[in-house]
Amino acid sequence: MTPQDETRAADQSDAMGYPHRHLLGIEGLTAGEIEFLLDLSESYVDFHKGDRGRRGLLAGRTVINLFFENSTRTLTSFELAAKRLGADVINMAVGVSSVKKGETLIDTAVTLNAMHPDVLTVRHDQSGAVKLLSEKVNCAVINGGDGSHEHPTQALLDALTIRRRKGRLAGLKVAICGDVLHSRVARSNIHLLTIMGAEVRVIAPPTLLPAKVERLGVSSYIDMREGLADADIVMMLRLQTERMQGSYVPSIREYFRFFGLDYDKLSVAKPDALIMHPGPMNRGVEIDSEVADDIGRSAIREQVEMGVAVRMAVLDTLTRHLRWNS
Ligand code: CP
Repeated sequence: MTPQDETRAADQSDAMGYPHRHLLGIEGLTAGEIEFLLDLSESYVDFHKGDRGRRGLLAGRTVINLFFENSTRTLTSFELAAKRLGADVINMAVGVSSVKKGETLIDTAVTLNAMHPDVLTVRHDQSGAVKLLSEKVNCAVINGGDGSHEHPTQALLDALTIRRRKGRLAGLKVAICGDVLHSRVARSNIHLLTIMGAEVRVIAPPTLLPAKVERLGVSSYIDMREGLADADIVMMLRLQTERMQGSYVPSIREYFRFFGLDYDKLSVAKPDALIMHPGPMNRGVEIDSEVADDIGRSAIREQVEMGVAVRMAVLDTLTRHLRWNS
C-alpha cells in the first residue's frame, strides 16, 4: 500500500465512524459517532507532544471562521487547529464586514460560499441560524455555538477531558449548575452525556431551569447541596446576561450565596470530584476564585487544551471526503 492508499483507507474508515457532512449539534448523534470523534481527538492530544505527521492534512484547504458573537477559546482554537493541519484560515471580522451594512446571514453565507471554502465554522446569537446557513452552502459547516441551542465542540472537549481524568463517561454522576436555561453548553453536554450513559443532574434557581428539562433525560434540583451530593463531575455555567431580558436572579450576591461553587457546597460531592467550567468565568458570581484555581481538582485549563485537539479531529473528519477525491 502506498502512503496515499493508506491515507485514503484511513479516511474511508473515518467516514463510517462519522457519516455526516456537518457538525451542527450533538443531538441525534450515536454513541459510536461520539466515541469515534473522542478517539480521534485523543490522537490529536499527542500531536501537541510531537506527533506532527498530520501537519499537512488540510494543505490547500480553506477554513473560514464566521463569528457573529464574541469568542476567545472557540475562535482561537479553531484557528490554531486549522493552521496546525496546514489549512489557509480566514477569521471574518463580522464587526467590520458588510453585515454592518445590513447584509443578512444568508447573503453573507452565499457570498462566502462563492469563494469556495472547504469548511465554515459559524457562531451566531440565534438558535438554528447555523443549520439554516448549512443548507445554503456547499462546504462542511461546524456549529461554533448558536444562541442557547448547541455548542457541540464544547461538549466534545468536555467529554474528552472527563474521559481522560476518569477513564469513562458511562455511570458518572455529572452535575451541571447555573444558568441552564440560556446555555448551549448545557444542552450539548446533556445530549452527549446522556447518550454516553452518564447520570446527568441540572441545578439552578427555578427561573434558570428550562421548562420540562427532565424530558432531556436529566434530574433537576434547585438546591446545590442536594444536586451535588456524591457527584463525580461539577460543571459550572456562566450567567448568560447577554441572553436575558429582565432579571432572573435577585442579585449577584444572593446568586453566589445559593448557587456559586465554593468549598462548602463542594464538600458534599465525591472527594475527587472534578471541577469544570467552559469559560469565560465570572469569578465570585458562579464560582469562587480559589475553587476555580484549585490545581488538584479544577480541569478548567485542561478543557481549553482539549479544545484544540477536538477541533483538529472535527476538521480532519469533515474534510476526509476531499482527500479521497484528490
Ligand atoms: N467556551 C466558549 O465557548 O468560550 P468562548 O466564548 O471564549 O469561545
